[in-house]
Amino acid sequence: MVLASLIFAFLLISELGTDKALSQVAPNAVCSCQEAYTFEDGTTTVVLQLPKTSTTVSTGNQSLSELEQNNQKQAQMLSSQGLLLMQQAKQIQQIELELQDLKLSISKPPADCQDVLVSGNSPISDSQITASSMWDSNHGPAHSRLYANMDQHRVGSWSARINDNNQWLQFDFGHVRKLTAILTKGRNQFAQFVKTYQIHYGNNTLLMKDYRDGTGSVKIFQGNIDLDNIHENVLNPPVYARYLRIKPLTWFMHISMRADVLGC
Ligand SMILES: *[C@@H]1O[C@H](CO)[C@@H](O)[C@H](O)[C@H]1NC(C)=O
Ligand SMILES: *[C@@H]1O[C@H](CO)[C@@H](O)[C@H](O)[C@H]1NC(C)=O
Repeated sequence: MVLASLIFAFLLISELGTDKALSQVAPNAVCSCQEAYTFEDGTTTVVLQLPKTSTTVSTGNQSLSELEQNNQKQAQMLSSQGLLLMQQAKQIQQIELELQDLKLSISKPPADCQDVLVSGNSPISDSQITASSMWDSNHGPAHSRLYANMDQHRVGSWSARINDNNQWLQFDFGHVRKLTAILTKGRNQFAQFVKTYQIHYGNNTLLMKDYRDGTGSVKIFQGNIDLDNIHENVLNPPVYARYLRIKPLTWFMHISMRADVLGC
């Protein structure tokens, strides 16, 4: 068994193919090749080319069928090498996809952490909603719940006693929460709404921080332009705090609003 053969494999990886299969194809003209095989599995094709070997068959009485068997063994070896290379190519593709996902998840806010913290499934109590002032007890901060509408007992929003830049509406979540978005609405049935606002947050109401944008300036959020549509502002990055305060900066007719906070 002295079949001296040197095997070189030229690998071409491309995005082609439909079926996982090993098939013999015409050798590429570039490499005056003797044999070529492709392996396909739907997304990846690996082409193996076997250049012409020195077919110096040894003297002796090696039969033709032995030579054929040798060739078959080599083809099988190439086949398993090809499948291995294809698996490696797929692993690299998979890693690239995971990296892409990671990049996206860094720039996007998390899709989870969207619990409705003020009036959702585990609502905070009315006493955990406070404000700088109120028009009267029918316009108190507890009326700021997002779903509050006007009925014979009360109005459909919190309304400040006076309209100036020192007013705020505050939520106490009871403990530190991750806050990911702010939802606001205007006043139900009366044309009053907050057009822009800033937010303060913290774990202690005496040490509240301004939410700032990437450049370090106090972030000014766009608020509402009508009475009953929810306007959402995503907090990117999110904040970790027990208290969140919404501080109206500009308003239409009167400082009146309903609000909620998303987080977990
Ligand atoms: C050829 O085969 C025969 C029988 O298998 C063996 O005896 C002989 O040594 C072989 N000749 C050579 C040159 O290998
Ligand atoms: C509030 O406390 C949490 C946990 O101790 C901390 O991670 C977070 O940064 C604090 N938030 C502020 C605004 O200081």
